[in-house]
Parts: sequence; structure tokens; C-alpha cells
Amino acid sequence: MQNLTILPYTPQLKALFTIIRNKDTKRYEFIFYSERIIRLLIEEALNHLPTQEKIVTTPTGAKFTGSEFLGKLCAVPIVRAGESMEKAVREVCRAIRIGKILIQRDEETALPELIYEKLPEDISKRHVLLLDPMLATGGSVCKAIDVLKEHGVSEEKIIFVNLISTPKGIETFQRYAPGTKIITGFIDPELDSRAYIIPGLGDFGDLYFGTQF
Ligand code: PRP
Ligand code: URA
Repeated sequence: MQNLTILPYTPQLKALFTIIRNKDTKRYEFIFYSERIIRLLIEEALNHLPTQEKIVTTPTGAKFTGSEFLGKLCAVPIVRAGESMEKAVREVCRAIRIGKILIQRDEETALPELIYEKLPEDISKRHVLLLDPMLATGGSVCKAIDVLKEHGVSEEKIIFVNLISTPKGIETFQRYAPGTKIITGFIDPELDSRAYIIPGLGDFGDLYFGTQF
């Protein structure tokens, strides 16, 4: 599918997903292993940023033709669960500017509500890594796209980075923002009656931040 990249399902990735999906996994392990997958996702996302040729001289005096990133970047986690992805972004992009969009799904209706936003002033001139580990119905990320567009960011400059998605979420999102790239770790088949991803892993935010007992 156009503009959709799924991480290669390597033996390593399969093992990491098995740990984070296991209901018996301890919270510190969930955090550690989900962050490992998130790091892979962020590394993949960087492959989709524009570059230009750059020639450098090596210590041998010879020339090497390589490349450098072009343009400015920022990251925008969809709070709360998206904040789990900030650490990996900071590890690979020192001093990156980070905006926040707080969106919460209503527990009964699963409809998203925008509660807060704070974005870099010059965000329209930047490429944006939009971060949220779970793409279920697609409602939350579409609302986040609205916020970014209101701030002048074009669809083509947004890369949505996501851990687990669904066909419904991807379809909804691609219809809403066809120019935006999605980098996902895995596509699960369906949603349950409460719009939770199946098999999924439950509520990512609760597991990561320890608010579920
Ligand atoms: C979760 C998740 C996404 C959203 C996905 O957040 O992090 O933002 O649900 O569902 P959707 O695709 O159907 O909109 P939630 O609102 O549960 O808040 P949380 O980050 O506090 O867990
Ligand atoms: N949010 C989550 O954290 N998990 C789901 O399965 C759906 C939305």
C-alpha cells in the first residue's frame, strides 16, 4: 500500500512483540521491550526524511560521497501514550524540538477529544514525526492531523510512527491524510466491541505508565 511501511517481521521483532503482548509480562519488561521496538520504528522513520548529497574528506585525504539530512525536524507525541516514544527520538536526534497534542478517547464511545496542544512556532517549516503507539479506529490520529494542518503543516511533511495498527485505522487515516507516510510495527486484524485492538496488548498508556492494576 502506498505510503505505508511495515517493519520487517524479523525473528527479533517477533520475539519482542511476543514479550510485550504477553499479559504476564512485568511492567519494567513491558517498558524495556516496547522501547526497543519503538527505537526500530524511529530509525526506520528517519529513512523517510529528505537528504542531499554531501562530499567529505576522510582522514586518508580521499573524498567520500555521502549524504546529509535536509531541512528541520520536530516530534509531536499524541499524549499520553505517544510520550513513550519521545525517549527514542531524543536518543537519535539530540535537542529535537517537541510539541504536544493531548487527545483522549472517550471510554464509552471511543471518540477522541482534543484537550491541549503546544507546538513549535515554526512547525509549518519542519518535518514532523507524529508519535502514537496505537492506531485503532484512527479517530485520534486524524484529530492530531487536523491540529497540525491548522498550524500550517502539510500532509506530506508528516510521518506517523506507530507500534500496532489495524486495517480499519490505516484505511481511515489514509483516506483522511493520503499524503502522510505511516511507519508501523505490526497490523493486527480487528477491533473488539470497545474499539480495542485484537489481539493487541490492551491499553498501552496504562501498561507503560502503570495506571492499570
Ligand atoms: C489510545 C492510543 C491512541 C488512541 C488510539 O489513547 O494511544 O491515541 O487510543 O485509538 P483510536 O485510533 O481509536 O483513536 P487513549 O485515548 O486511550 O489515551 P492514553 O494515551 O492516555 O492511553
Ligand atoms: N488504545 C490502546 O491503548 N489500545 C487499544 O487497543 C486501542 C486504543
